[in-house]
Amino acid sequence: MARRRTPWATVWIILATAAVAPSQHHKPEDRHHWWNLGQNELVAALNVRDNWNVAKNVVFFLGDGLGITANTAARIFKGQKLGRNGEEGYLAWERFPNAALLKTYNVDKQVPDSAATATAFLCGVKGNFYTLGVDQSVTKGNCSASKNPAFRVTSILHWAQEAGKDTGIVTNTRITHATPAAAYAHTAHRDWECDSALGEEGAGCKDIADQLVTDLPGKNIKVILGGGRQALGASRGASLNSTCFRKDGRNLTREWLNDKLSRGHSARYVTTLGEMEKVRAHDTDYLLGLFDDSHMPYEVDRLVGSSGSPSLRDMTIKALRLLKKSEKGFFLLVEGGRIDHALHDNIPHRAMEEIVAMDAAVAAALREVDLEETLLVVSADHSHVMTINGYPDRGNDILGITGELSKVDGLPYTTLMFTNGPGYNYTVDRYQVRRHDPRLVNTKHIDYRSQAAVPTPAMEETHGGEDVALWAIGPMAHLFHRTHEQNYVAHAMAYSACIGPSQNRCGRPSHATFTKRPSPTRKLPVHSPRTAALSTAAGSGTAVQLPGALPKFPTLSPVLQQLLNDNEQKIVTSLGLESVKSFSATEDVRQLLGRNVLLPHGG
Ligand SMILES: *[C@@H]1O[C@H](CO)[C@@H](O)[C@H](O)[C@H]1NC(C)=O
Ligand SMILES: *[C@@H]1O[C@H](CO)[C@@H](O)[C@H](O)[C@H]1NC(C)=O
Ligand SMILES: *[C@@H]1O[C@H](CO)[C@@H](O)[C@H](O)[C@H]1NC(C)=O
Ligand SMILES: *[C@@H]1O[C@H](CO)[C@@H](O)[C@H](O)[C@H]1NC(C)=O
Ligand SMILES: [Zn+2]
Repeated sequence: MARRRTPWATVWIILATAAVAPSQHHKPEDRHHWWNLGQNELVAALNVRDNWNVAKNVVFFLGDGLGITANTAARIFKGQKLGRNGEEGYLAWERFPNAALLKTYNVDKQVPDSAATATAFLCGVKGNFYTLGVDQSVTKGNCSASKNPAFRVTSILHWAQEAGKDTGIVTNTRITHATPAAAYAHTAHRDWECDSALGEEGAGCKDIADQLVTDLPGKNIKVILGGGRQALGASRGASLNSTCFRKDGRNLTREWLNDKLSRGHSARYVTTLGEMEKVRAHDTDYLLGLFDDSHMPYEVDRLVGSSGSPSLRDMTIKALRLLKKSEKGFFLLVEGGRIDHALHDNIPHRAMEEIVAMDAAVAAALREVDLEETLLVVSADHSHVMTINGYPDRGNDILGITGELSKVDGLPYTTLMFTNGPGYNYTVDRYQVRRHDPRLVNTKHIDYRSQAAVPTPAMEETHGGEDVALWAIGPMAHLFHRTHEQNYVAHAMAYSACIGPSQNRCGRPSHATFTKRPSPTRKLPVHSPRTAALSTAAGSGTAVQLPGALPKFPTLSPVLQQLLNDNEQKIVTSLGLESVKSFSATEDVRQLLGRNVLLPHGG
């Protein structure tokens, strides 16, 4: 497919050309700038109020492979696209009031894969490498074990449906790929996306596409947008040999449509941006959009226009407009799934563009939802082995060369490099191993492969094992507050919405649901006109006073203030703290409550 450069990419080339060394293209900030920034950030932090509402909706954004290094690089890349130095900017989610770190290991692997990590953050239980929606009893490829109902785990998408909420999945990978599949499938092998992939090992197991269309909760998902027609038997082009195809001759998109229509629902199946745009929220119950036979194209390759395919942002907006109709709220999973692919191929430029596309999708979602009643979480499943290295000057092109020569081989190197992958580039010259000189190529080219120390085949750079970050805003976002296990994410999101494991022990009165908070009444020192904007950007809440009384616990939400005022012991009990066994958890709650509340013994 011919690549379409976005207008931005063209602008970027001009900017990049203009920004050739000396690299620093903006005056350095002075001490007043930093001082005011520090003070403003402090005011914003003091204005953050925990939101104890019950989340009507939960939107979970997952950047596949969006490690902390990639996140930092993309922040710089985004700023440099706008002609700035870049380091000083923020991605949409970096303004959220709460952030945490997640430990990503699988039950059997120090460095994880996307299937078992998705099982962790969607189903609340860690599993083994390559497995989806099953517990530790099932190892990779053990078909018979995966059929045992006792070994299966359900996802937050399922819990949301059980609570009467609508659900949706948006991804730019195949809809049967690891991350989305963990929301609806149970399988011992993530590659069993279609029947022909089952092979001998998987004989007798149900493939992932079949589970999506014929099992619960897949068949009740209201909005499904992504790629992967071939695994559903609805390919429109020549067979893609590297992608799953159906031997059984079934067309699962037709089966999907027939199922909805026979149940009396209105349903649409679409394959282009134009068709998707024509779908009207008010008269469509179910929407299936499959925009490619395999993964959807990278954002920079995407054909725009009505016969082309939607961006992650387009799909996110469409999904939210359909799901927002639901009176009981919704759960939506959005995956920026191709960040991972670009990094597996050691191509940072493509990964940066994918993250910026996800940034646009999150920014759009923030405009579509009400954060008083919607929990919005952004995270990653795992990292990659990319690093930001050398001592490049401030504002140096993040896709460029650091400006230094190695004292050992006398050659410069790029800021973004990998410890392994196909970008390995050495030649043996007589008895000397020579690294290639990155000055001889355009390191800003969209297909430039950064150098890697250890060679692997194309697309096989490995994941990285360090923690990933999570950012949250909306009801109970403050539950994300330290280094957590990755499987905690499902539990905290379920608590926020009072669904699944938290449906009967939510600890919040029903009047906490969907309460609107009044505008600020308490003013903090203001150091610049930008404070107000910063406060809004950095925090979900605002300072609030209860009518007629000074708040006893000013750092808490009105709902919790009220509860604590009534009876401190009662809230401790109603939060279920008496059953908390570990001291550290109790200690956390003590801090959460912002004061030394009495806790039951043995807690
Ligand atoms: C498959 O899992 C079952 C149950 O955990 C176990 O008994 C069996 O040995 C496993 N089979 C293989 C080939 O690992
Ligand atoms: C795909 O496989 C078929 C038969 O197995 C072969 O004829 C065809 O050339 C292959 N296509 C590609 C693009 O490799
Ligand atoms: C599969 O079914 C869908 C929905 O009816 C239809 O649009 C599509 O053309 C079919 N594809 C094939 C390959 O049969
Ligand atoms: C290795 O680097 C040289 C430039 O020094 C470049 O021409 C070549 O394409 C690179 N090879 C790979 C596999 O990246
Ligand atoms: Zn991966």
